[in-house]
Amino acid sequence: MKIRDLLWLFVANTTCATYPAYGGNDTLEEFKSDCAAIVPKLHIENATVYFSQFVAAGTNLSLPDRNVTCGVPYQVISTDTCRVALYVATSNRSGINMEAFLPANWTGRFLSTGNGGVGGCIGYDDMAYTASLGFATVCTNNGHNGSSGGAFYNNPEVVEDFAYRAMHTGVVVGKEISNTFYGEPHKKSYYLGCSTGGRQGFKEAQDFPEDFDGIVAGAPAFAFNNLSSWSGHFYKDGGNATAPTFVPTDYWPVIHQDILDQCDALDGYVDGIIEDPLLCNYDPSGLACGANGTAHCLTRPQIETVHKYFSPLYGLNGSLVYPRMQPGSEIQAAYIYYTGQPFPYTMDWYRYAIYNDLTWNPLTLNATDYANAANKNPFNIETWKGDLSAVKERGAKILHYHGQMDAIISSDNSPRYYEHVSKTMGLAPEQLDEFYRFFRISGTSHCAGGDGASVIGQNINSVESLDPNQNVLTAVVKWVEEGIAPESIIGTKWVNDTQSLGVDYQRAHCKWPKRNTFVGGNAKEIGAWKCV
Ligand SMILES: *[C@@H]1O[C@H](CO)[C@@H](O)[C@H](O)[C@H]1NC(C)=O
Ligand SMILES: *[C@@H]1O[C@H](CO)[C@@H](O)[C@H](O)[C@H]1NC(C)=O
Ligand SMILES: *[C@@H]1O[C@H](CO)[C@@H](O)[C@H](O)[C@H]1NC(C)=O
Ligand SMILES: *[C@@H]1O[C@H](CO)[C@@H](O)[C@H](O)[C@H]1NC(C)=O
Ligand SMILES: *[C@@H]1O[C@H](CO)[C@@H](O)[C@H](O)[C@H]1NC(C)=O
Ligand SMILES: *[C@@H]1O[C@H](CO)[C@@H](O)[C@H](O)[C@H]1NC(C)=O
Ligand SMILES: *[C@@H]1O[C@H](CO)[C@@H](O)[C@H](O)[C@H]1NC(C)=O
Ligand SMILES: *[C@@H]1O[C@H](CO)[C@@H](O)[C@H](O)[C@H]1NC(C)=O
Ligand SMILES: *[C@@H]1O[C@H](CO)[C@@H](O)[C@H](O)[C@H]1NC(C)=O
Ligand SMILES: *[C@@H]1O[C@H](CO)[C@@H](O)[C@H](O)[C@H]1NC(C)=O
Ligand SMILES: *[C@@H]1O[C@H](CO)[C@@H](O)[C@H](O)[C@H]1NC(C)=O
Ligand SMILES: *[C@@H]1O[C@H](CO)[C@@H](O)[C@H](O)[C@H]1NC(C)=O
Repeated sequence: MKIRDLLWLFVANTTCATYPAYGGNDTLEEFKSDCAAIVPKLHIENATVYFSQFVAAGTNLSLPDRNVTCGVPYQVISTDTCRVALYVATSNRSGINMEAFLPANWTGRFLSTGNGGVGGCIGYDDMAYTASLGFATVCTNNGHNGSSGGAFYNNPEVVEDFAYRAMHTGVVVGKEISNTFYGEPHKKSYYLGCSTGGRQGFKEAQDFPEDFDGIVAGAPAFAFNNLSSWSGHFYKDGGNATAPTFVPTDYWPVIHQDILDQCDALDGYVDGIIEDPLLCNYDPSGLACGANGTAHCLTRPQIETVHKYFSPLYGLNGSLVYPRMQPGSEIQAAYIYYTGQPFPYTMDWYRYAIYNDLTWNPLTLNATDYANAANKNPFNIETWKGDLSAVKERGAKILHYHGQMDAIISSDNSPRYYEHVSKTMGLAPEQLDEFYRFFRISGTSHCAGGDGASVIGQNINSVESLDPNQNVLTAVVKWVEEGIAPESIIGTKWVNDTQSLGVDYQRAHCKWPKRNTFVGGNAKEIGAWKCV
């Protein structure tokens, strides 16, 4: 049995579902020459294929053309891969750069990864991760290069790419490339993304349900215009560092401890992890100056700021714009939203996409702006359709997760979407379970990292195991291909967050609407907790 067939079996206990993918007895030499010969075989509408390149397993691939704002200019590739790079025009003044990583150990599966923030960056780490698992993988630059949204300015075509078109085009073109290269169509197609990538996963589910059989969407940036407004209200409400309303950065650890004092025990166990922030209605009044006559305290305007941050944001006529920041995230949020500086993505979205006005001042942000952004809703980037029946009907599956210490996208917004789907489709959770499952990952920051058991296979640096009980990607594969759906996702906490130091503990994260509750015993044992 060849290695690619073993990879196919990474889904535990599969009985002999093998794909003789890269031609039964092909050698590595044949793979290399096929890679070298692929470019002229690709006849893709609107595309310019730049190059193909064989990348041997273990190569530290140099990426000299990568925009400096996108991260490091290299990526270690752990499996023999054929890399294809191309440009696809999406209009006469917009287009996508994209790449395909075609592994020698192909499992017959296709996968697209997503993007982040308002960028502009091919996720080479996600591509390396998924290609190493035998997926023919693609990713685009989402229609522009770099981590800022400057390219949106005066060019709605680029905004359209960002809203949905880059992703969908990349999938259509990527499947064609995979088909041509391997000489046979893929068997199943998947998606893995978080943040803006989570939104892209739901956009696909809502508008292009044929694209994927299995979608893993983390911490989705859906309700995107409203999220951008909410992201801007922290600066508006807290002001800059000289404002009397501003809460100094070094005070947030005190607030965090006060939050834990009030809420950590609500799940039955005090370990610094709030399993269910929805139960936490934080009251900062105990930190008020004068209450205990201490010097290190919050003034009345500062208390008011803290109140605002942990309250939902409302717009004109009392409409809900976005839920509150969930308590527990504040140590990181102090360096993201509570800095006394404008939030860059809010600036980019309002200046370049909503108003086309380079002078727009984030300190003037108000409910009229929230309404303007929500009404303009360029290319329906809001990504808030509650009807997922097309996904349901074709038997595709959605695995949605959200870290409960997320300091960028409130974890309260994910259950809000789930309930929106439930209400729109008239389906109770037991019925949604058939095709849509949502997991709350406690102690986890934005997409990854955090104080708790945050390692769930969601990216290349967060893999403890390929066991579908412990890995969101292999979990969705097992769900799609064997019909065995995840009931919980086991997360891992490494000692000092360092994999080589071993496992500190594991915890099973519950499927919504269940919540994790301590039932007794050693809290570092999975069995000490129960989803209720
Ligand atoms: C692979 O090689 C073996 C032995 O050389 C041969 O029997 C088999 O038919 C080959 N399979 C394919 C798919 O070429
Ligand atoms: C890959 O190359 C870069 C730059 O040359 C270097 O900084 C990095 O440490 C290398 N990574 C590995 C794992 O070799
Ligand atoms: C974007 O980056 C790619 C390399 O990833 C490069 O080929 C392309 O020319 C860049 N596009 C622009 C408009 O700078
Ligand atoms: C892919 O398969 C080749 C042999 O076909 C093997 O040498 C290599 O280790 C495999 N790579 C991975 C990442 O499993
Ligand atoms: C090719 O580009 C044109 C616009 O320039 C567009 O109308 C058409 O849909 C594109 N084709 C594909 C397959 O994307
Ligand atoms: C681009 O296409 C639009 C319509 O899609 C057309 O109005 C415009 O003239 C075209 N511009 C150029 C430079 O071809
Ligand atoms: C790199 O990205 C930044 C931020 O998005 C952008 O301003 C810049 O133009 C990009 N550079 C190139 C060469 O594309
Ligand atoms: C700080 O905010 C005040 C208004 O609250 C404003 O007048 C002042 O210009 C701001 N300072 C800076 C450096 O932005
Ligand atoms: C103030 O006193 C109350 C009651 O004793 C206590 O709960 C609270 O933590 C104190 N606050 C500070 C800032 O010490
Ligand atoms: C977005 O905010 C507007 C108010 O500005 C509200 O009417 C609308 O329902 C909100 N949309 C979502 C998806 O929350
Ligand atoms: C928001 O500010 C603009 C001026 O920047 C003003 O015209 C508008 O009335 C304000 N809206 C609200 C709801 O205060
Ligand atoms: C973990 O980190 C702490 C402090 O950062 C250190 O004291 C401890 O030795 C580390 N543990 C291991 C096993 O490295």
